[in-house]
Amino acid sequence: MQTRIIRTIDEQALRDAGQIIRNGGLVAFPTETVYGLGGNALLPDAASEIYAAKGRPSDNPLIIHLANAADAEGYCVTSPLFYRLAEAFSPGPITMILPKKDCIPSTVTGGLSTVAVRIPQNPIARALIAAAGVPIAAPSANTSGRPSPTTADDVLEDMNGKIDMILDGGPCDIGVESTIVSLRDDQIVLLRPGAVTPDMLRSVCPELLFDDLSMRKLADGEKPMAPGMKYRHYAPNAAVILLNGDREKIVAFLRGTAQDRSVGILADGADLMGIVSKENEIVMGDGQNAGQIAANLFAALREIDRRPQIRTVYAALPKKDGIGLAVYNRLMKASGFTVIDL
Ligand code: TXA
Ligand code: MG
Repeated sequence: MQTRIIRTIDEQALRDAGQIIRNGGLVAFPTETVYGLGGNALLPDAASEIYAAKGRPSDNPLIIHLANAADAEGYCVTSPLFYRLAEAFSPGPITMILPKKDCIPSTVTGGLSTVAVRIPQNPIARALIAAAGVPIAAPSANTSGRPSPTTADDVLEDMNGKIDMILDGGPCDIGVESTIVSLRDDQIVLLRPGAVTPDMLRSVCPELLFDDLSMRKLADGEKPMAPGMKYRHYAPNAAVILLNGDREKIVAFLRGTAQDRSVGILADGADLMGIVSKENEIVMGDGQNAGQIAANLFAALREIDRRPQIRTVYAALPKKDGIGLAVYNRLMKASGFTVIDL
């Protein structure tokens, strides 16, 4: 299959893309978080095509993307809590899990009786949903296990020849995937941290719970509430090791390894820059700013694989405040939960 990449998105391109999705094809598109790999959420086969293109296990459910919170009524059983959260945070980087209605095929939900719903803010994503005229099922548009794509070229790297079209909307603003909450029995449980932070969620629902299985290494047989959180994710070929301790100790540790040509640094601040050679240094941010690091994180993880001399890459363990919790979660997974306490 020839994958068309559309760099200038006009009305015609959106009409074509919408038609491809409606008719069962696949279109990758930008959202404010990461690029999604979209298919018609009402067609059982479209979900199978998405799983095939990603090489993703089909028990890992997809998020359906809608233009408006009011549209959710047609596809899932909503609740006052859903509308409270939607009012506060959507359109935006939050996904809510609710009981599904019959029109959503079980291929989309990996056999679950619930469905994940998100109302994205990115204008191209919104225009595409409108043009398709159907809810769009979309996981992140990466090959399963790789970092999520934050540019159209990242998508092309993984999906060339496997999907019909890629809409290039430039780099994604946020850079890490949406916050996921489960709303079962009117309880709110955080399944995946993102740009809608725990404090923001608590401002609407003080009784926020955490699925801690999504945040730590799983023992045999343990299952997080979001099936996708059990898979090894984001891992480059090099070993990722996180350093926990004062910045001075981290700098001293890294200086001690600097002579080793196989060591790379994922720098989150100016103090970690200039320790190894430029070829072995990948900069995520210069001021320990969690928002900036989130925006650059996945590109940095992809970059490691373009520097094959790097066999071990170190990063400072992120602070868990605000969107830092999302960065912490993604880096923990990329490292296979490997942390050195200094
Ligand atoms: O920001 C995002 O959420 C991006 C953009 C494209 O919208 N999408 C995304 O999708 O990250 P994906 O498929 O890579 O991650 C979806 C996560 C998976 O961990 C999946 O297991 C979980 O959501 N999930 C989906 N439906 C679920 C359900 N019914 N119950 C529990 N977890 C669910
Ligand atoms: Mg994903």
